[in-house]
Amino acid sequence: MTDEELISFLEDLPLRRLHVLARGRVHRHFRMGKQRLIDVFLKLPPQIRSALEEDLRSTTIPIKASPPEAQQPRSQKKSSRQLQTPSRHPGKSSGEPSTTVADLLEGLGVPPSTTFVPDPWQVDAVSQLATTDVIVSAPTGSGKTYVAVEAMKQAMAKDSTVIYTSPLKALSNTKYMEFSHLFGHEQVGILTGDRRDNAQAPLLIMTTEILRNLLYDAASGEIDLRLNTLGLVILDESQFLADPERGVVWEETIIFCPTQARLLLLSASIGNPQELADWLTSIRPIPCHLIHHRRRSVPLRGAYLHPAGKLSPLFKSRDITQGAGYAFHPETKRLFSKYELETFGPRGGR
Ligand SMILES: Nc1ncnc2c1ncn2[C@@H]1O[C@H](COP(=O)(O)OP(=O)(O)OP(=O)(O)O)[C@@H](O)[C@H]1O
Ligand SMILES: [Mg+2]
Repeated sequence: MTDEELISFLEDLPLRRLHVLARGRVHRHFRMGKQRLIDVFLKLPPQIRSALEEDLRSTTIPIKASPPEAQQPRSQKKSSRQLQTPSRHPGKSSGEPSTTVADLLEGLGVPPSTTFVPDPWQVDAVSQLATTDVIVSAPTGSGKTYVAVEAMKQAMAKDSTVIYTSPLKALSNTKYMEFSHLFGHEQVGILTGDRRDNAQAPLLIMTTEILRNLLYDAASGEIDLRLNTLGLVILDESQFLADPERGVVWEETIIFCPTQARLLLLSASIGNPQELADWLTSIRPIPCHLIHHRRRSVPLRGAYLHPAGKLSPLFKSRDITQGAGYAFHPETKRLFSKYELETFGPRGGR
């Protein structure tokens, strides 16, 4: 592939795709913008470059364009995704009638207030943190935040610094407000791509990317992250470890996490938590204890909104309770298959 061809294909890809291609080939690629990454790709040694081209051929939009399309100016070329436009009215022709929002929300409300008593798994998680790293795998709405807050209190009582990370700036902002309310504004700081407030506070909220970058810089002696006082690192929504594109950020954060700090990973959707706990135990100086709580405290109800406007229940039974298994509603399955067919074509290829 000539340099021009390579540039042309890379320019058509989203930046996150370039970062996936750069993994293992380009050092510290996560800090680079698109143009810089393309420049670096062009300078790769021949063997690495040919493997990159091979990856491009096998996993992205077809590289060998058909002759008429190849002769079109780049601005007129369409990706395979753009060629198939979903129909505007797919739900109207057949299938069950649309459900209403009122039907969907019926019966939801605020439960009567009762005295707060932590569940045994919550107590267990907090006490395990005294001696081990901990992974809490528990369904949505089951109270993982309680474990985080109690662990924060214990670490802060020992004058340790605590870092809490979430995968989203919006969630970090929400948690900043929540924890500021709980601990007092002067005790909490935030560091995201958009905000930097009270960075000297004992409890710091940040996105996982920011923490990973700080740990990188600290490892190369560039900044002082108060690593010696870091007592607890909480990675909320840690199922992102399995994300094909961003997972490496969680992986590196765990690997670079200072050894004296406890790690607390929280998630509602890790499929293989024991495997993850075993991995942490193998790479960290202290064991990792798994708290696997399966019972769902808050029933789950869902719906699927087709792009054409049709709303359909997500599950066959109205609510998913107590961590029971579930089946998708047949109408939703039909609508979703139809959408996939219209969007990606008969083979579902991208
Ligand atoms: N032991 C408990 N008994 C009753 N309510 C609880 C208990 N623990 C937590 N809660 C309440 O449950 C709600 C959901 O808790 P929380 O936000 O911690 O869920 P989560 O496990 O973090 O869920 P998600 O996976 O969606 O982040 C909160 O309102 C919290 O006060
Ligand atoms: Mg939570």
